[in-house]
Amino acid sequence: FDAIEIISTKRDRGELSTAQIDWVVDAYTRGGVADEQMSALLMAILLNGMNRREIADWTQAMIRSGERMDWSSLDRPTADKHSTGGVGDKITLPLAPLVAACGAYVPQLSGRGLGHTGGTLDKLEAIPGWRASLSNEEMLQVIRASGAVVCAAGAGLAPADKKLYALRDVTGTVESIPLIASSIMSKKIAEGTGSLVLDVKVGSGAFMKNVADARELARTMVALGTDAGVRTVALLTAMDRPLGRAVGNALEVEESVEVLAGGGPSDVVELTVRLAREMLEAAGVAGAKDPEEALKDGSAMDAWRRMIRAQGGDPDAVLPKAAEFVEVTAPSSGVLGTLDALKVGVAAWRLGAGRARKEDPVSAGAGITLHAKPGDRVREGRPLMTLHADETARFERALQALDGAYEIAESVSDDLLPLVVDR
Ligand code: URA
Repeated sequence: FDAIEIISTKRDRGELSTAQIDWVVDAYTRGGVADEQMSALLMAILLNGMNRREIADWTQAMIRSGERMDWSSLDRPTADKHSTGGVGDKITLPLAPLVAACGAYVPQLSGRGLGHTGGTLDKLEAIPGWRASLSNEEMLQVIRASGAVVCAAGAGLAPADKKLYALRDVTGTVESIPLIASSIMSKKIAEGTGSLVLDVKVGSGAFMKNVADARELARTMVALGTDAGVRTVALLTAMDRPLGRAVGNALEVEESVEVLAGGGPSDVVELTVRLAREMLEAAGVAGAKDPEEALKDGSAMDAWRRMIRAQGGDPDAVLPKAAEFVEVTAPSSGVLGTLDALKVGVAAWRLGAGRARKEDPVSAGAGITLHAKPGDRVREGRPLMTLHADETARFERALQALDGAYEIAESVSDDLLPLVVDR
């Protein structure tokens, strides 16, 4: 095979054969196809697309580039959830122990935040002592001890995707439905979960800005999972405003613990419970405990504490706090009509909650506490949100990012998406 011929085929809107896809993904992973050639192919795919067969072949080639995990020694069904990412999306933190408390095992490989979206591992690393990197043997120990494990994917899992994602990140080729779907699903299929619930976010703070694109991404991923023998369901959920009232690593851990204690913001609770029910159903757990019950009776909190401890963390430790804060107050009285997820996400990123380059550290304490959500009444001069940062120098650029982020009106905007848009 020849890389130039494969690039030209896709450039001219042709269809790549299974053998061509297997070869180019394998050769790129081993260093036999150059970055500049793969960049050109990725751009051709972004512009001209791939059909379902090509996407399935691309996904299988990425799975075969590494190991496939196996949970068959466990005595309960496995279930996982993947969110396509958003602002204030801390749902994995309460959800994994909740589903474990209801009777399924949750082996969840998670990622770090990039750009304005937060990453589950960055959030959990705000807990003193907690470790994201585990060997496969340690993963099994944690899951046996607590029912759930949330950790980083090892280097052996879909290495083709690791290399391709890093290249896409610097070549403007992230926003392609075939490439996003195959990237996410190759990792989830290689992870070996028996069932998977996809939380496909839609709105300004998500990859998919409109419902039609989100639906297309969801259908593509469900087909890939189903064909690979993973029972896969997708929900489309709102990311036009942030989820919950906390955006930022330690702030989101704190909010998650409130949910596990039976409180927390209603949207976070509603989505956590809905996703838990979907996961238990997809996993086929017979006679599962009701998730709402497990939040009330403390069993989800017990699973959380066991999971954090099993990964070296102290569930009772005081979480890091940022040294400086600034209040943003309401310029007039009325109802908060909108609150733009992307702008809030970018502001939190600039406060230090996210990173500009993969190797940068994040601040555990930085972020935003929202005192009002769309639909809430606000009074002139009262706090709308509190910005937290380690250095005061960060506030100016964060405040600039919030320019036009909200609207105070007579009533909530009619354009807001329902929390669960579709299943
Ligand atoms: N998340 C992934 O894992 N891959 C993508 O391409 C986009 C989001």
